[in-house]
Amino acid sequence: MRAVAVAEFGAVPEVMDLPAPVPGPGEFLVHLRAAGVNPFDWKVAEGLLRGAVPHAFPLILGSDGAGTVHSVGPGVTAFRPGERVYGQFLRLPRGLGSYAEYALATEEDAVARMPEQMLFTRAAAVPTATMTAYGLVEAAGVDTGQKVLVVGGTGGVGQSVVQFARDRGATVLATAAGDRSREWMRHLGASEVLDPGPLAERLLELCPDGVHTVIDLVHGAEGVAELLPAVHRPGGTVASTLGALDPEELRGRGITGINYSNRGSARLLAVLADLIGAGRLQVHIDHEAPLEEAPSALARLREGGARGKTVLRI
Ligand SMILES: NC(=O)c1ccc[n+]([C@@H]2O[C@H](COP(=O)([O-])OP(=O)(O)OC[C@H]3O[C@@H](n4cnc5c(N)ncnc54)[C@H](OP(=O)(O)O)[C@@H]3O)[C@@H](O)[C@H]2O)c1
Repeated sequence: MRAVAVAEFGAVPEVMDLPAPVPGPGEFLVHLRAAGVNPFDWKVAEGLLRGAVPHAFPLILGSDGAGTVHSVGPGVTAFRPGERVYGQFLRLPRGLGSYAEYALATEEDAVARMPEQMLFTRAAAVPTATMTAYGLVEAAGVDTGQKVLVVGGTGGVGQSVVQFARDRGATVLATAAGDRSREWMRHLGASEVLDPGPLAERLLELCPDGVHTVIDLVHGAEGVAELLPAVHRPGGTVASTLGALDPEELRGRGITGINYSNRGSARLLAVLADLIGAGRLQVHIDHEAPLEEAPSALARLREGGARGKTVLRI
């Protein structure tokens, strides 16, 4: 099968011809038609999880995908061949991922049926980023009447954070560069859009008591520290997807710090499918390319400037 993989940590991703996996007991094989691209994919290829999880090489990149169940192994009862499914397919110890024609999953994985009308490319754009956005807003306790800042609102995760926070009745402030991105953020529900860069002073002009919640998808520890004077205290919350916080230190300053780590599930994918189906959540695709162009699509994402998701057609 065609796949995009790395031969070792840090290697340049390449198009390879690799054997299709065979589903064992409890596993099912999915014929993927699209894969979603996340920053996590290149970070894994560079060794993010080295030492924490076994990796097999060549390592097929990618977690997110959408396709049709091809065959099921013994004991699989939840899925049947021909069903359209989407979710997360990364199996590092087997060297299997979603940038490939076929991927494996089990019933315990974050894989669910696709909504009837949804295109494979659109479904593949959802899993990691949108589940993360949903979990972040929930973990941060975003609620009616709060002021919520989303740093990195224009990316794969950020676009959904803005919408979920708005749906919970919060006043959303988001960062975005450029007129079109600013307009897009407003369309998704942001009341204020701020240029990237030092934010604390501008935030305090807009919200003299500080914002209740910051959801930061961009900064390391130093960047987050710059924002803290604009966080309401006591009782404010800061959540980071980059592990940028020291929750103990923040507690001493009257702020709850959350280093958020995504925990995907089939149940949550089903919730998201319903929201998208009902028109309550938009997942915008920024860049679409054929599987063979995965190496350049990854390089493009790494350069920054994402305005939604990157998706590969398989
Ligand atoms: N912990 C977890 O479980 C988890 C889960 C998902 C994602 N993540 C991480 O969360 C981060 C965001 O993920 P993503 O999928 O949304 O990435 P993405 O699609 O690449 O989006 C990142 C966004 O941040 C913007 N940005 C970059 N620098 C900025 C700055 N200084 N100020 C404001 N905005 C800035 C980018 O636009 P510009 O370049 O135009 O500024 C882009 O729109 C990644 O590092 C990813 O690895 C972690």
